[in-house]
Parts: sequence; structure tokens; C-alpha cells
Amino acid sequence: MAIVRTPAALTAAVAAWQRDGLRVAFVPTMGALHAGHLALVTEGLRHADRVVASIFVNPKQFGPAEDLDRYPRDEAGDAAKLVGAGCTLLYAPSVETMYPPGFASFVRVAGLPDLLCGRVRPGHFDGVATVVSKLLAAARADVAVFGEKDWQQLAIIRRMAADLDLGTQIIGAGIVRDSDGLALSSRNLYLTPDERQRALALPRALATAQATLRTGEPVAATLAAASTALAAAGFARVDYVELVDGETLGALDAPVPGARIMAAAVMGTTRLIDNLAI
Ligand code: PAF
Repeated sequence: MAIVRTPAALTAAVAAWQRDGLRVAFVPTMGALHAGHLALVTEGLRHADRVVASIFVNPKQFGPAEDLDRYPRDEAGDAAKLVGAGCTLLYAPSVETMYPPGFASFVRVAGLPDLLCGRVRPGHFDGVATVVSKLLAAARADVAVFGEKDWQQLAIIRRMAADLDLGTQIIGAGIVRDSDGLALSSRNLYLTPDERQRALALPRALATAQATLRTGEPVAATLAAASTALAAAGFARVDYVELVDGETLGALDAPVPGARIMAAAVMGTTRLIDNLAI
């Protein structure tokens, strides 16, 4: 698998395939790849003839007190996993290439980034929108695949790609879970064995809330019960458990088609997110 490190090299490689009539899928990641990321590559191969992945730990989406320095990095290991999954090209730019001296632009989607995770991670989604717009503009792929675990991120990227006519179709890929139900996340590596066990309360609380809402029980009481279950399991902080419209992310007091139940909570020092369709 070839590795390119500049936007110009990425643009040229994708354009060469497209000139040959091949469709190209792009899978942006921050590395520390797990089976969830590799499922994005598999999804890309369902829509395209070639898959390009990127690995870039984007400093602009980390807050000052967040885990930028300790975020796991293993380019060689990630590259081997991508080859196994059928990826043909890796884009691995440096921070200096992405944000050279004098870099002064930000992409901000209005509204959506202020909700849910945005309330406790101010600026995070502006950093995501900025880097993803740069990545999509450089790749000019036919489709780009993002995981549904980061549902708010996916909603923001869809909005941005449509608003800015980026010309790449955004595809969401279903959440990949361990056999016990925990959604795969690079940050699961931070959990101690005991924390990981207690973190199972997150998918369980969502599944219980999903089942309860489907029987027509009131939303407020259902969400409060899920929140209580998380606190009882040892989550140090519950940032939110909300029922939202899947596109606008606006809070709902009754399920509607496309509604999702979303949650974020901190186990030990690790913030976990998860969501389910209702
Ligand atoms: O989901 C991620 O891994 C990142 O937020 C993304 C989309 C690659 C942007 O840095």
C-alpha cells in the first residue's frame, strides 16, 4: 500500500484512478485503528473500487485539557491493518503540512456543534469540520465513510458537505460493538479492566431506554432512568442522555422516525459516547 503525505499527492492519486473510470472511497481516521475503522474500509469497498484512508491526529479538535499528547499513535501497525482490510492508499500528513505557519481559517457549521457533546467540548466540532473539509477537498473522492458511533460528528459533516458543495457523498457506517455490546473506540484502550466492565452499563442503558420508548413509555422518565443507571454503574459524570432528531439533533419529547437516543458519560478519566436508533 502506497503512503502519500501531501494534499497534492493525494489529489493526484485519486484523480488518476477516477480518470481510469474507478470510483474512490475515502475513510478519514485519527489512527489507532480497531475493527470499527476496518468496517469503514469494508463499507467503502461496497461503494467504490478503491479505498483511501487517512491517519491524522488533528490537534484542532482537542481541547486544552484533552488527550492530544496521549492519543495512541502507531502508523506502521495501522498501515498493516489497512492493507488487510483492502485499503489501497494511506494519506498520512504531518501537522505542519495540514496547518503550516500562517494557517488562519476555520470551518464552522452553525447550530449543530453547540448541542450534545458540543456543550462540554467547545470548539471540538469546529476542529473536526475544519480538518474534514481540508481532507475532503484534497481527496475529491466519490464517497467518504464515517462511523455512526460519532453520530453528532456525522450529522455535522453531512450538513457541511451539502452546504459547501464538496462533491463527495457522505456515508454513515453502523456502530461496531465488542461481543459484550461496548461500542469500539480508540479511547477504550484507556479503560482499566474494571472500568471497561462497568462501562457496559452504557450500551445496556441505551438498549433498555430503546425498548422502553418502543413500548410508548414517557421520554423524560425513560431518559432519567438511563442516566440514573449510568451513575449507579460508576460513571463519574453523565454529560447527557437525550432523545434527538437524527438530522437536526434537536431534543424530542416523543419518538419520531429517524430519532436517536444519544449518551455521553465519563468512566474514570475516559469519556465514552454511544447512540441507538429508536
Ligand atoms: O472520527 C474521527 O476519527 C475524527 O474526528 C475525524 C473524522 C477523522 C476528523 O479528525
